[in-house]
Amino acid sequence: MSNPLRRIQISEPVTGDAEWHAVRESLTTGWLTSGPKVREFETMFARRHEVPHAVAVTSATTALHLAVHSLGIGPGDEVVVPAFTWVSTANVVEMCGATPVFVDIDPTTFNLDVTRLSQAISARTRAIIPVHLFGLCAEMDAIKRIAGDTPLIEDGACASGAAYKGTPAGGLGTMGCFSFHPRKSVTTGEGGMLTTRDPELAARLEMLRNHGASVSEEQRHHGPKPYLLAEFNMMGFNYRMTDLQGAVGTVQLGKLDEFIQERKRWAAYYTESLSGLSWLNCPEHPEYQDHGWQSYVTKVDESRSPMPRNAIMQKLQDVGISTRPGTHAVHMLGYYRDKYDLKPDDFPGARLANDCSMAIPLHNRMTAEDYAYIVDALHSIR
Ligand SMILES: Cc1ncc(COP(=O)(O)O)c(C=O)c1O
Repeated sequence: MSNPLRRIQISEPVTGDAEWHAVRESLTTGWLTSGPKVREFETMFARRHEVPHAVAVTSATTALHLAVHSLGIGPGDEVVVPAFTWVSTANVVEMCGATPVFVDIDPTTFNLDVTRLSQAISARTRAIIPVHLFGLCAEMDAIKRIAGDTPLIEDGACASGAAYKGTPAGGLGTMGCFSFHPRKSVTTGEGGMLTTRDPELAARLEMLRNHGASVSEEQRHHGPKPYLLAEFNMMGFNYRMTDLQGAVGTVQLGKLDEFIQERKRWAAYYTESLSGLSWLNCPEHPEYQDHGWQSYVTKVDESRSPMPRNAIMQKLQDVGISTRPGTHAVHMLGYYRDKYDLKPDDFPGARLANDCSMAIPLHNRMTAEDYAYIVDALHSIR
């Protein structure tokens, strides 16, 4: 079955003429930094995620950084983050001078284990960052019950278009943070979005992404006195998204639901076609969740598999199929391990996910033949 010419990437963005025309149009206007196209993208994103405010930035990492910073979190404060996530969920807490406190995950959903949350909360906890990993929302009802008044920052980097009990990601906590990196369902090359229901917070986030300026460059440019500079009453950052990216974002966002529907169909195909493999656990989620299917992440049960996970990944690579671990256990990464003296088994769920998760290709450039080829390849492993 090996076909040396076939190469199925773990993820590939779908961009075409419409994105090209959008960039071209934007380039010809002469307005290249955050401007009308970013505003249009923000309006569309807010509408799709049923929130009143969306603020575009340069990545989910900068969105998360602004979210933590906007709450005034700093040295001496703690922020609870799941131990299995992309490293930047924890890094942004460090960037604010605060301490990330890890909580284990439930390896079935890969999301924060709510039964362990209360023991991670202390008098110093200033926020919790539930991650909607791979497009599946965290158990927000239980998290809210345990968190009480503690602000919740949704790390929805992977969760554009996902929903929990009918409410879209981004409107489930105090703020939501999204990514438009090319591995996400919709992309602007790099890019991110913050969402919130709180108008004051939205206004602060808009200033913070633009050096703390009292008005945006576009407002100043088109205002009555464009020759006067803005006021700077707070320290801020340059996390502005370009209008070129905003233009691409409007086109991509228009395709989001179609992309998710297609991914959902193929995820169901995988789950059905792979159910006979006793050594491979397919992703599971409750009925009340609308999964965003950013990735399809399986778990290799090494007590039953014919070989270890990494050997399986190599075999698949040899026949042109890209795979990846889902993400990493952050407490096992050198920086966190050494700084906080953490051991792999401090968070066994995260460790298991770190060692056994395996994302297989799921994206909108794949054909029926590609999916069948991957299913066959997995069944041939022995
Ligand atoms: C859970 C999670 N958080 C944050 C990020 C960071 O996103 P970005 O690359 O847009 O900064 C990612 C990216 O993969 C992610 O998966």
